[in-house]
Amino acid sequence: MTSKLTKHSQISDRQRWDLRYREGAYSARYWPAAYLKQLVDAGVIAGTGSALDVACGRGRNSLFLADQGYRVDAVDVAPVAIAQGANLALNLGMRINWQCRDLAHVRTPFKMRAYSLIVMIRFVAPELFPHLLQGLDADGLLVIEEHMRWPQTEALVGPTSQRFRVAPGEVLVQLRQTGIEFDVVDQFEGLVKETKDDGTDGTAAVSRLCIRRRTS
Ligand SMILES: C[S@@+](CC[C@H](N)C(=O)[O-])C[C@H]1O[C@@H](n2cnc3c(N)ncnc32)[C@H](O)[C@@H]1O
Repeated sequence: MTSKLTKHSQISDRQRWDLRYREGAYSARYWPAAYLKQLVDAGVIAGTGSALDVACGRGRNSLFLADQGYRVDAVDVAPVAIAQGANLALNLGMRINWQCRDLAHVRTPFKMRAYSLIVMIRFVAPELFPHLLQGLDADGLLVIEEHMRWPQTEALVGPTSQRFRVAPGEVLVQLRQTGIEFDVVDQFEGLVKETKDDGTDGTAAVSRLCIRRRTS
């Protein structure tokens, strides 16, 4: 008999994530990423224009950004997540442009110079960085948050595998390698308190970055 683990390793991103969402992954996590809320509260994220939520999952951040005033495109590979997000948005009377697409190995994943804000929260895909920067209009903001490598990840919120975590400083270095000019608006790397899906208190090691594309 094929074990669940073996089955998982043979399947596509779409199948793997669909299975996770069907099994209830993140179903209790309806609050937006704390970093986005912090940037809104600080007046950095201003709520005007179009926003793109990359690997949006069930759309907790898409809904938050739409509520701030953005027209939101929300992309994810998992149809189950998109369906759950769309259902939630419908119940809340909110409009999001949901797109079910695989972002791996795509030549042109996003529209060029189309967004005043792009967010990529907890989805490690550095190969998308040039496309994310090209997707921003002049002065557009890119916000990235990843789980960061840390000793003893078992005690932390997020993946235990270092493969799904980034090294300190890695995201900024990879963005600079695109050759597209930007300014760093905000950066944080370290431990943060975070409510776990079961409602208890936890700790996450995160790498957070907010940059602004230079006008050119
Ligand atoms: C850890 S979840 C983060 C979801 C969301 N950003 C959030 O903060 O709640 C990672 C997401 O990446 C999506 N994903 C994985 N591989 C993908 C791919 N190749 N293309 C698009 N989305 C993908 C998954 O379906 C999942 O929703």
